[in-house]
Amino acid sequence: MGESDTRSGTDDFDFDTAYRDDSPFGARAPWDIDGPQPAFVALEQTAAIAGDVLDCGCGSGENVLFLATKGHTVTGVDLAPTAISIAQKKARERGLTATFTTADALELTGYHDQFDTVIDSALAHLFDPDQLTRYAAALHRACRVDATVHILGISDRAFTFLRNEQSAVAEQLENQLPSDALKLEDMLPSLTADHLRNGFAAGWAAESITETTLRTFMPFQTDPLDLPARLGRFRRLASKTDPQTR
Ligand SMILES: C[S@@+](CC[C@H](N)C(=O)[O-])C[C@H]1O[C@@H](n2cnc3c(N)ncnc32)[C@H](O)[C@@H]1O
Repeated sequence: MGESDTRSGTDDFDFDTAYRDDSPFGARAPWDIDGPQPAFVALEQTAAIAGDVLDCGCGSGENVLFLATKGHTVTGVDLAPTAISIAQKKARERGLTATFTTADALELTGYHDQFDTVIDSALAHLFDPDQLTRYAAALHRACRVDATVHILGISDRAFTFLRNEQSAVAEQLENQLPSDALKLEDMLPSLTADHLRNGFAAGWAAESITETTLRTFMPFQTDPLDLPARLGRFRRLASKTDPQTR
């Protein structure tokens, strides 16, 4: 991604509203699916999740709590205090041990050489190029050498998929946009492999970027909708200036 990248980043939206009674998304946000992302369930079965685990932008905590049921030591961080409160309540109710705390993933203040695995479900796909670079640098500080970061985000194929294969959903989504000036393609995250590789260019090795799906629940639907997504896997190199190997 170069200067032509038009991603707006996360500065213009207060995510905490998505988890409150006055949520702009209604009863729940589309990403808040009351269970773990299937892509991370599959990943866990391959032993790709090991050691001390961090979930960045953990939301209401379902991926963290899933990993806790599998015996992993997991910390979930999110900028939204309401999301963290909901996640902590779920952990108490389910009798699970996990750490949930508010933190800005672009800084990860206070975390140094602490994590072996990071998962990210639908956070990095929101970041503009500068934010993604800052995020990769913060993760580099927070992770141990050879730690692995797994990033799951809605891909640039999602818009075409909605238009061609889910036109009724696309139409309903467009009808719900708060202004005629907004377009669905501008609202939908569109993670490309280049965006990911560029963001993690310094101090990370890109091990794989694969096609998968990210589960959503649209407010007006009872069935889940699996959108085209990418799963990027990056390994932390010893130095932040090491070039990545492909
Ligand atoms: C699309 S939601 C995904 C939530 C969760 N990972 C899930 O899959 O349900 C993105 C989340 O990232 C959080 N977020 C946004 N910017 C953040 C930042 N700079 N640091 C930490 N969390 C952030 C939001 O509050 C929100 O919970």
